[in-house]
Amino acid sequence: MNENKMRFDSLLTETARRGIENVMKELDGLGFYTAPASTRFHGNYPGGLLEHSLNVYSEAILIRETQLRLNPELESKLPSNSIAIAALLHDVCKAEIYQPERKSRKNATGQWESYDGYGVDYSAFPIGHGEKSVIRLLRWGLEMTDDEIMAIRWHMSGFDLAFQSPESRNCYHAASGKCPLLVVLRAADDLASHILEM
Ligand SMILES: [Fe+2]
Ligand SMILES: [Fe+2]
Repeated sequence: MNENKMRFDSLLTETARRGIENVMKELDGLGFYTAPASTRFHGNYPGGLLEHSLNVYSEAILIRETQLRLNPELESKLPSNSIAIAALLHDVCKAEIYQPERKSRKNATGQWESYDGYGVDYSAFPIGHGEKSVIRLLRWGLEMTDDEIMAIRWHMSGFDLAFQSPESRNCYHAASGKCPLLVVLRAADDLASHILEM
């Protein structure tokens, strides 16, 4: 896990983006580097969120390469710095929401057994998912491009409750139409969480 933290920090440092040092400090304070990525699904163990963020980055880099091979003109819309910011930081909203707790489940013989798992508590800053990541990053002083903001805000697409309102849906579709970074991030997140981490 230490290795993952070193890779994560060095990829972010390489962006040389204003505010990035403070982002890493704030993430550390919130427990990002040891947090799980979910309670029951992908990455539900200490360091799972960090691992997931790196997996999304690796997927996004591969998708970017393929897209640029097919259409080199996309390069200006997919700068590698933006891939790093969007992929590595898309889920910072999850940093403090999971807490270790004893849970119960039925084992293979139908007997109840207890095990170490995670509970979820949104009360620290209940403001959403992608939008929470964006708000936190901006408050921490990270300089972000419009494309990075759109990509992180809408990376959950149809899984986002706000997506159900017509205005939000229209914003989402408008963002998808003008922001290849969002489309790449969405695909990378899906590939990481539903194939790589299963
Ligand atoms: Fe997410
Ligand atoms: Fe994710």
